[in-house]
Amino acid sequence: MKVCMVGTGYIGLVSGACFAEIGHEVVCVDNDTQKINMLNKGEIPIFEPGLGEMVKKNVRAGRLSFTTDIRKGIEQSLFIFIAVGTPPKASGEADLSGIEHVATEIGTAMVEYRIIVEKSTVPVLTGRRLRTMIEKSCTRDIEFDVASNPEFLREGAAVNEFLCPDRIVLGVESKKAEQRLLELYKPINAPKIVTDIASAELIKLTSNAFLSTKISFINAVSVLCEKTGADIVKVAEGMGMDKRIGRAFLNAGVGYGGSCFPKDLKAFISMSSELGYDFRLLKEVERINEDQMLRVVKKAEESLQYLRGRTIGILGLAFKPNTDDMRDAPSITVIKALQKAGAVVKAYDPAAIERAKKMMKGIDYCRDLYETADGVDAIILVTEWDEFKQMDLERVRRTMRKPVFIDGRNVFEPKKMKDLGFIYCGIGR
Ligand code: UGA
Repeated sequence: MKVCMVGTGYIGLVSGACFAEIGHEVVCVDNDTQKINMLNKGEIPIFEPGLGEMVKKNVRAGRLSFTTDIRKGIEQSLFIFIAVGTPPKASGEADLSGIEHVATEIGTAMVEYRIIVEKSTVPVLTGRRLRTMIEKSCTRDIEFDVASNPEFLREGAAVNEFLCPDRIVLGVESKKAEQRLLELYKPINAPKIVTDIASAELIKLTSNAFLSTKISFINAVSVLCEKTGADIVKVAEGMGMDKRIGRAFLNAGVGYGGSCFPKDLKAFISMSSELGYDFRLLKEVERINEDQMLRVVKKAEESLQYLRGRTIGILGLAFKPNTDDMRDAPSITVIKALQKAGAVVKAYDPAAIERAKKMMKGIDYCRDLYETADGVDAIILVTEWDEFKQMDLERVRRTMRKPVFIDGRNVFEPKKMKDLGFIYCGIGR
């Protein structure tokens, strides 16, 4: 089947490549000429395991192509997926101008029946707005369907999650769109839930809001663990064994970041308020998350008495492992707070240093974790890369000026760290 994917960000590029991988003919469109030139040369602008090989393979097979010409994509494809960015405005509300622009292009270029599918995360009822926008710009009377097919993929595991998802959600307004979309996804063996567009939009929004809530919940409980001597890892394990709760997303840490949870939660709160509901529960989820990022800085300060003039080594800058994505990364908040308190910051990340350099100045960026540990008064581990889990702890401790180790992701066992001579602080243990 023929697919046009508008937007070659994380979602668009992964989805486009994966649709080609399962046998469809895909054209990916972006108005960023530089990006399209790169992709046409086989260069991948993002760090995502497995994606580069998949793109190359499908381009060679003639199933995947890249263009800046949106009209070409609209003319030749039955499905037009919209995967453009929906960044937050100052108010937190999602900025839908990218989607509006694509809708106008579709309306003017469409000559026969098309299924226009929302792939980006959008506020509820955007599908309805999308239909109105397309109708407005369409001069002829052409039948089309709008649908919602939210994406649940996670950065770092995106390819696998697209091909083996927990579920595929299809929000449709006609039987015809339902049948075609089911045919498109036939090669993927996963439960498919077909519903109306607003429900599909809400499934995506509430899933992210609920996952963020789980994280803030466990982070709040970690404070109680510290006050009582309980161990958050055991508490999460015990809670998670209840099938109704589940163990996933109950890892206490420095808080959630990334391009999705922080932005989506803000947009969800703003959307709820526009609909007349003050979602205070989610406001609290946000507040707990902000506090959580600063707790590791407080821990460093408590262990060292003061931060002014101290040198702190940050291990991990990306918002999570296996990505170079720095968007809303907790490391940014942690580093800013350290700098504000007068500390000198050294930092290392296996993938995100180049991106971090563009966002944060005044940091001594290091080549590896050992260089980062050398001469520091404390280490704060912010991202749980595998490379850090395997570090030579003896070597690290020997080179540190003071052996303070703040483990923001509970990577290490407290007893083992203390036995090795560290002044060790985890989260909630
Ligand atoms: C998230 C969702 O997990 C995806 O299902 C969704 O498709 C995506 O947003 C999106 O809306 O596009 P992602 O942002 O890639 O995916 O990353 P996650 O793996 O969910 O992690 C988000 C943040 O939560 C990270 O900073 C991570 O460190 C943190 N986290 C996660 C915790 O602090 N504790 C946990 O137990 C789990």
